[in-house]
Amino acid sequence: MNILCPVCKKKLQKTGNSYQCENRHCFDLAKEGYLNLNLHNSQNTGDNQEMIRARKNFLHQGYYSFLRDEINGMLNEDDALIDLACGEGYYTSWFKCQDKIGIDLSKTGLKYAAKHDKSTLYLLNSIFHNPLEDECADKVLTIFAPLAKQEIVRLLKKDGVFIMVRPDRDHLIELKQLIYEHPYRNETEEIQIDGLKLISEIPIRRKEKVVGQDIADLFMMTPYYNTTSQKDKDKLQTADELEISFSFLIDIYRKE
Ligand SMILES: C[S@@+](CC[C@H](N)C(=O)[O-])C[C@H]1O[C@@H](n2cnc3c(N)ncnc32)[C@H](O)[C@@H]1O
Repeated sequence: MNILCPVCKKKLQKTGNSYQCENRHCFDLAKEGYLNLNLHNSQNTGDNQEMIRARKNFLHQGYYSFLRDEINGMLNEDDALIDLACGEGYYTSWFKCQDKIGIDLSKTGLKYAAKHDKSTLYLLNSIFHNPLEDECADKVLTIFAPLAKQEIVRLLKKDGVFIMVRPDRDHLIELKQLIYEHPYRNETEEIQIDGLKLISEIPIRRKEKVVGQDIADLFMMTPYYNTTSQKDKDKLQTADELEISFSFLIDIYRKE
């Protein structure tokens, strides 16, 4: 897939450790191997060090490897794949596609991703204004991340496929029951995306015993972490282990 210069939109060519366009705008790869093309001084700098640490520790225990395998089974080796908001590359690094790009705004995430996975090009950029050509991807992925609807449609080739992973109704319900007096279940209405057609929705679930620090790390990966009081967070320490439902929806859309 071609990467476009964020200044003049001409194609960037790789020479050594740099990417340069015909107008001589030049961008160096970071020492870990990711490419910073983020010219916007955005307030959003993606997940911070502590969030990346928690997610890395939790995911590397293998709790979500069944999800990673399920998605990998939907991909082909010759797919051009873009993972939007790839974090530290836990999923991206695993996928079998030869031509892979992961995009995220978290420097900590991409440092880890690029250092450990040389099979993917990692771009530090917003997923809402990314530096890739129109209709360059066979598959675009968004896993537990913000939905950049217009960019997804722009990036996909005709008949290309968008795969979105989101929590199903009962995802982490036992963890919520431990913390909250009135735990709620997740909303799962169909998400409409203009230009794409939902072709299937695949629920996948598993119940696993989560132990020790992994419980706190899992909670830190959730969107509720920042809105929960310290008093409620302290309840996590009352459990040494907990049977937790991992319950996901994989939505598959095709570009019309
Ligand atoms: C919950 S994490 C999911 C990461 C990864 N997909 C996974 O499941 O392991 C959400 C990710 O979105 C990234 N993110 C949030 N807003 C973004 C934006 N506007 N552009 C790029 N990345 C963004 C964060 O840095 C974070 O890595």
